[in-house]
Amino acid sequence: MRVFSGIQPSGNLHLGNYLGAIVNFVELQNKNQCIYCVVDLHSITVWQDPEKLNRNIREITAGFIASGLDPKKSIIFNQSSVQEHAELSWLLNCVARVGWLNRMTQFKEKAGKNKEKMSVGLYTYPILMAADILAYKATHVPVGEDQKQHIELSRDIAQKFNIDFRDRILKITNKEEFFILPEPQITGPVTRVMSLRDGKKKMSSSELSDMTRINLLDTADQISSKIKKAKTDSASIPDKMSEIEERYELMNLVSIYSGISGRSKEDVLYDFSGKQFTHLKDSLTELLVQKICPIGNEMKKIINEKEYIGSILIDGAEKARAIAQPVLEETKKIIGLA
Ligand code: TYM
Repeated sequence: MRVFSGIQPSGNLHLGNYLGAIVNFVELQNKNQCIYCVVDLHSITVWQDPEKLNRNIREITAGFIASGLDPKKSIIFNQSSVQEHAELSWLLNCVARVGWLNRMTQFKEKAGKNKEKMSVGLYTYPILMAADILAYKATHVPVGEDQKQHIELSRDIAQKFNIDFRDRILKITNKEEFFILPEPQITGPVTRVMSLRDGKKKMSSSELSDMTRINLLDTADQISSKIKKAKTDSASIPDKMSEIEERYELMNLVSIYSGISGRSKEDVLYDFSGKQFTHLKDSLTELLVQKICPIGNEMKKIINEKEYIGSILIDGAEKARAIAQPVLEETKKIIGLA
């Protein structure tokens, strides 16, 4: 099993990133070869303030380390420092079909009515993501629910390459297939953390209001105030999960509680059934402060240790390149470029 995943340095590492992805990254590093990438090339598909981008890259790296990723166990690096990603991405651009990209829901959501004004990079972004994964012949990709469609596209691209170049692959590698079809790993109690203000929207760093999310760098007071003001409905708390399927905000709070405490959603709901929302909110705040604040404090310490973070990323890039470079070279040979 070879694991690859990435997070964009677009500011505000939040609870969705933590529960949907980072918790699983940490879990996986003990038994597998894991490669975790700060995907800076992805982040510039929308405008990033150049004065802030470097700090955001350090923030994600610090978040990885503070959450328990160990650079001795996992390869941690920055996407733009391994050129193979961009080069393989171009080769895969020529394999992927326009019709496939037109189906990507994330582009439609992000672009909305302004499709024509979006960067071309935002449109072709899932192909860069496929290159990230295929460059390492990763078998497993831990992500939140929102990335599922992109991983499916990576599988389609890998499969089309394997079919289009079947004879060359056999001739050059003596194998039937070249790229491995990656499996999405969407696990855990919360694969989609929702906004604290709208239970139908996912928690996101691009949402304008900071009240919609818990950031890993939030203080205890900020966490408390955000949970207090989190949207709820006026009905009482029932004891069966089937009764909260369509009460999205309550479902979200129960899911977050479950993700942070490690207890099942059913147990959490049962404990608070018949009680006031404030009980659930106070208890959740306490848990979040206990879990998130130490990570945030550690991040604040590490973010300013520029040399330490720099050395992790340089070392990680060297290890990543050692895997990606031969894969790119072979890809070029198969295509007939080298
Ligand atoms: P990004 O940076 O938006 O998010 C990073 C990870 O966090 C997960 N996530 C969530 N999970 C649950 N609930 C949420 N509200 C939530 N918000 C974010 C995401 O699913 C993701 O796992 N395209 C990717 C980054 C990427 C990548 C890759 C991932 C680039 N190349 C290769 C895997 C493999 C993205 O924008 O994630």
